[in-house]
Amino acid sequence: MNYTERLENVTVIGAAGKMGSGILLLTALEMTDLSLMPENKDKTFVLNAVDVSDSALKGLVEYIRGQVQKAAEKKTVALRKVYAHRTDLIENGDIINQYVNDVLAVVRPTTRMEAAYDSKVIFEAIKEDPELKVRIIKQIDSNNKNNPWFYTNTSSIPITQLDETAGLGGRIIGFHFYNPPAIQKLVELIDAKYTQKEVHDFSLEFAKKLKKVVVPSNDFAGFIGNGHFMRDALHGIQEAQRLSANMPLHEAIYMINKVGQDFLVRPMGIFQLIDYVGVDVVSYIMSVMNPHLADENLHSSLLDKMLEIGVKGGQYSSGAQKDGFLKYDKGRAVAVYCTEKRDYVSFESFATKCDEQLGSLPGSYKPWKAVNFSKGKDADLAAYFGELSTMNTMGAQLAKTYNARSNAIGRKLVSDGVANNNQDVNTVMLTGFFHAYGPINEYLK
Ligand SMILES: NC(=O)c1ccc[n+]([C@@H]2O[C@H](COP(=O)([O-])OP(=O)(O)OC[C@H]3O[C@@H](n4cnc5c(N)ncnc54)[C@H](O)[C@@H]3O)[C@@H](O)[C@H]2O)c1
Repeated sequence: MNYTERLENVTVIGAAGKMGSGILLLTALEMTDLSLMPENKDKTFVLNAVDVSDSALKGLVEYIRGQVQKAAEKKTVALRKVYAHRTDLIENGDIINQYVNDVLAVVRPTTRMEAAYDSKVIFEAIKEDPELKVRIIKQIDSNNKNNPWFYTNTSSIPITQLDETAGLGGRIIGFHFYNPPAIQKLVELIDAKYTQKEVHDFSLEFAKKLKKVVVPSNDFAGFIGNGHFMRDALHGIQEAQRLSANMPLHEAIYMINKVGQDFLVRPMGIFQLIDYVGVDVVSYIMSVMNPHLADENLHSSLLDKMLEIGVKGGQYSSGAQKDGFLKYDKGRAVAVYCTEKRDYVSFESFATKCDEQLGSLPGSYKPWKAVNFSKGKDADLAAYFGELSTMNTMGAQLAKTYNARSNAIGRKLVSDGVANNNQDVNTVMLTGFFHAYGPINEYLK
């Protein structure tokens, strides 16, 4: 079966979720583009969008329609060629509408899992629950005569565990999109111990068509991305707890967040990133990874406490940030949660004092946005970190400790065999987390 035949019948499970909806969109575009090739005109392409939530599936169709419309507007020249034989399509608007209709004709939203029984490729993006994933995969596999291939989006579960417990004999691979899949360029590709070569090769071809940057990760819980992020987050939390021996915890959280965002020139501080991903999601991923780690305890009592209180962060369906460790006003952090008061404390009431304690940033400091998209990025970073390395303020010291820990996490991912080399670790953090520089760096020595 060639690439096109494999893509004739596909299912995305969890299609209405954050990841599933993006995976569905990308797959729908690829399948529609195949269906519009003259040599495929007699074939039918079916993309089942399976989800338990009927109401979410309704919203999904509108999401797909809107996104395809935008995608079509960007490629009208190419679409004109595709529809050259259609003399009835004259205006750009006619062509765009036709393309939207063609994509929507491929996508079949349903709550019935049975739809997946005819598929040859299954993208799995249901919640991060190993038992649920295995149960669904097994159900589909035992009813599907095509020996389908499974592409799981799991963030943390070893693929070999899914393969063996579901009895797939290597018809599965970790195809780990980043959030949001339609925008993020990175895909981590994780072979299980017995992943079949054809399953792997299809992934590479599919990823290439989607114009993704593929980084291979070996099959260790959390892979490269979460392998770094979860440990980096735990370091930030533990540093804040350490500082809280001498100051209120909410002030320490503010400081550590500022050290990451400003002193280390990251896109956001670590507590904001935890909020973005979701306090509950971070805590859960740690709990899935933890049993697989022999020499460390990936667990935070502070995350437990936040969840007990009910402060979870994450996103509204509009994409707006929910309050978590930090409170947000129009996307900007304005206050920090105090677990004792069980309420947010406004930055205005303490930030100036904390900023003074941290000390000023080097004169060559530029915010992440200015550095990351500048042509002189490497020179800017070298000058900035060169200056920071000579400073002995509290902010500089915390930054040095933080960078050293991030560096050590990255190097351990390589020495443990999770990543094949330093470059792969850095590519994941640069591409998937938008860092301006990789964790394995020579700064702040
Ligand atoms: N959110 C992220 O940033 C991110 C990034 C990379 C990978 N992932 C991984 O992707 C997967 C999905 O995460 P998400 O954030 O999109 O979750 P989500 O909760 O947004 O989506 C999960 C979807 O699955 C559906 N679902 C639940 N049980 C189902 C069932 N039995 N059958 C069919 N559909 C079912 C839900 O209704 C929901 O629409 C997880 O494995 C997660 O670890 C998430």
